Amino acid sequence: MSSVITVVLIDSDPSVRALVRHTLQMQGGGSEFFTVIAETENPAYGYELIRQHCPQVVFMDVLDAKSFDILQRIGTYFKDVMVVASGDDLTLQTVMQCMQAGAREYLRRPLIADEITAALQRHRGSLGRSGADETGRLIAVFSNKGGLGKTTIAVNTAMALSEVIQSEAMGKPVALVDFNLQLGDITTFLDIQPKQTVVDVIKNLARVDEEYLRASLTPFNSGPVRLSVLADPTNMEEADDITPDQLATLVAMLKATFPYVVVDLGSTLDARTIAVLDQADTILLTSMMNLPCIRNTQRMLGLFNRLGYDKHKIRLIINRYVPSDEITLEDVEQTLKTDVFWQFPNNYFAVIASINRGLPLRTLDNGKDLYNSFIGLARQLAGISIQQSIASVTPQLNPAKKKNVSKDNAIPSGGFASSTSVLPKSSASHDQKNVSPPSLWGLLGQTLQRSITKSP
Ligand SMILES: Nc1ncnc2c1ncn2[C@@H]1O[C@H](COP(=O)(O)OP(=O)(O)OP(=O)(O)O)[C@@H](O)[C@H]1O
Ligand SMILES: [Mg+2]
Repeated sequence: MSSVITVVLIDSDPSVRALVRHTLQMQGGGSEFFTVIAETENPAYGYELIRQHCPQVVFMDVLDAKSFDILQRIGTYFKDVMVVASGDDLTLQTVMQCMQAGAREYLRRPLIADEITAALQRHRGSLGRSGADETGRLIAVFSNKGGLGKTTIAVNTAMALSEVIQSEAMGKPVALVDFNLQLGDITTFLDIQPKQTVVDVIKNLARVDEEYLRASLTPFNSGPVRLSVLADPTNMEEADDITPDQLATLVAMLKATFPYVVVDLGSTLDARTIAVLDQADTILLTSMMNLPCIRNTQRMLGLFNRLGYDKHKIRLIINRYVPSDEITLEDVEQTLKTDVFWQFPNNYFAVIASINRGLPLRTLDNGKDLYNSFIGLARQLAGISIQQSIASVTPQLNPAKKKNVSKDNAIPSGGFASSTSVLPKSSASHDQKNVSPPSLWGLLGQTLQRSITKSP
């Protein structure tokens, strides 16, 4: 049986569009037929066409920062789409940047029909799927011990993510959800009075649509930060009737509505918590630098392993980090056989002032350093989806191990503790499935071949 593969062309040069169209027509005769459903010379309009038509393949020129920006958006929000990027230069740096942004193939201009055909051939097996994949990413903050800073981390990570993704999310707020169903603190941290809670939404689960869901969440704005907050139940006992299935459904709806959903959890590991953790793209497993905490974290890692969670889904976070000779980060990593993904410095006065006064850390003079560390983490989290495709096929390209301070992120304190920032996403296995391993190798081969041909 033959299948039709839909294509959108975004190219400033009409003759290139004509060449691609013609080459695609020539691909007939096999079991797949290509059809160009829309084309444009304007990258921003091209993005709209992709949203409207959800094509399986996009050909686009990447000749300037604007088109590169669009490529990144496509890579972030339409992970199933096979993007064939083309540009004027074939330096490894340009090629890598485009691949990291989401391109599966990179062709040097002027385009040659044979190379277009070869690029399509390399992805034949993976082209039959639907093009749209706009579900948001769920980041769950968890520790199996109370009081380690989960709520502090959830609230500030959500704020920082909201700042960091402003342009990519095109005005959509980040959802911050309190699934600490009996002892939630988010509304206290933010000093807000929610009209609705998670209980109200769950009661109406059967008729919840995107509009209803958005209206049920309480807005929280601070400077550039835009959050939509889903509050915990008003009364503790109301939480009793909530089932794991209901939570799982609610989580799926939240992911379909918001680009990022940050969830604060309690410390009890029960079926409801696991229902949420199962659907998380990233678990920020929070710990501290003392033996009881590390021992508990070890137990958690063991359980996650038994639950079959991919290790890249779990990001080990050290909160309230103070360098000490008694226990070092290396000791923790060796003991837990896990890299520390991020560490937050200890700043009790800023955090407690923020909580007690209901003011965001970002607005407090003595909270700025700590908040900058959250910005650094948010950049890493937002970057993972872009970087994972390349990392999953080129492990040797991972950056050298960094310790403590990332200059790029200008983090005055706290920050990277390891190289794990550029790793494939685990739970969203569809991402990995959609990466076609040969493409990068094919591309590097192409690059090498060209440079060999060029050399005297
Ligand atoms: N980076 C930090 N530096 C200093 N103090 C911190 C930091 N993070 C959190 N704290 C302090 O730790 C305490 C507990 O924080 P938080 O309420 O966020 O933890 P939690 O894990 O959500 O607790 P619970 O398990 O009760 O929900 C707070 O009083 C806060 O002031
Ligand atoms: Mg809490």
